[in-house]
Amino acid sequence: MSCLRTSRYVSTAGLLTTTRAYTSPSSSIQELNRYDNLPSNSRVFSLIQPTGRIHLGNYLGAVKSWRTLSNSNPDSEFLFGIADLHAFTSYKPAAELKDNRYQAIASLLAGGLDTTKCTLYFQSSVPEHSELNWYLTCMTSMGQLNRMTQWKSKAQQSQNSSITDEKVMESTKAGVFCYPALQAADILLYRATHVPVGDDQSQHLELCRNIAKSFNNTYNVNYFPLPKTLLTPAKKILSLKNPEKKMSKSDPVQASCVYVTDSPEDIQLKIRKATTDSIQGAWSFDPVTRPGVSNLINIISGLTNESIEETVASIQHLKDHKSLKDYVAKLIIDEFHDKRQLYDELLKNRDYLDSVCKQGRDKARELASVNIGDIKSIVGMD
Ligand code: TRP
Repeated sequence: MSCLRTSRYVSTAGLLTTTRAYTSPSSSIQELNRYDNLPSNSRVFSLIQPTGRIHLGNYLGAVKSWRTLSNSNPDSEFLFGIADLHAFTSYKPAAELKDNRYQAIASLLAGGLDTTKCTLYFQSSVPEHSELNWYLTCMTSMGQLNRMTQWKSKAQQSQNSSITDEKVMESTKAGVFCYPALQAADILLYRATHVPVGDDQSQHLELCRNIAKSFNNTYNVNYFPLPKTLLTPAKKILSLKNPEKKMSKSDPVQASCVYVTDSPEDIQLKIRKATTDSIQGAWSFDPVTRPGVSNLINIISGLTNESIEETVASIQHLKDHKSLKDYVAKLIIDEFHDKRQLYDELLKNRDYLDSVCKQGRDKARELASVNIGDIKSIVGMD
């Protein structure tokens, strides 16, 4: 027991339990429509993949909501970072991966994350992620992983394919298949209570809660809290050209995606070309019959923090589709104006970025090393 550095534990009949009890949450998934009402002493954790420059969807779905959360809840703790180990599941030449990692960190800083309010770091710089990943991978069944849907799209398999299929098995890397166990390790390593993500990550978060429960049950401890999913309101920003699909950097149609780094002229042009409809009269939000217009309304709502209803009411004075587009373009241009300049400056200064990440890494490791010590002691690896 001497290795338990914290006094949070009481031992009952040789079993470890924590005095900070976590009751099962009544609802594990919450819509983030208010940012300032986290319970005190929450620990919020999230990572974003380094896919290079960030676009409007990444900005509204992650960076902006992280910024607002961490600025609005001074009595909670925030850890955010770059999921570079997850990015490693698809091959990139080393120089490109490195550039992407710097671009991602510069995007978070330019997006306004304040390192006095949150810890900002690279996942790969904290080796405890990989260490916990192994313990959790050993506690996760192939069936649980097989039911996840994201690896199927990443491995370019259809949604009803299975790892038991010979061809699928041959063409799927183990890292892609086991990716959600690493994600659970990321979250549980810090004993996070809340995880803000887009709805495409809901399934991984549910798996994470199941892994946490099964760890707690197996070792008869109450060590891991069951982290709640905080669904970001601008859940899904869709492609400007084909509002059936998510906005994505890999879309071959350049005009489908607005980047934080785009010039005002480019933003204006891309929004002008956005697919809408020819319905006249009042503006309405209806993703089925008016996907293009609804996507623009969703973008406005994400930028202004107003609800969809408030947004719809506030645009009724715009008399035609061109006016709506100009209005959206101006909002985006204003929002990104100084972020774009800051991003360019930051990217030129790798030493500065290195120093920010080193600071973040040290802070994250302080927590991670204590927790991995506890975990190893719980499983008998101390
Ligand atoms: N899988 C997430 C995504 O693709 C990124 C991620 C990795 C993450 N680890 C995480 C998100 C932990 C939240 C918490 O977006």
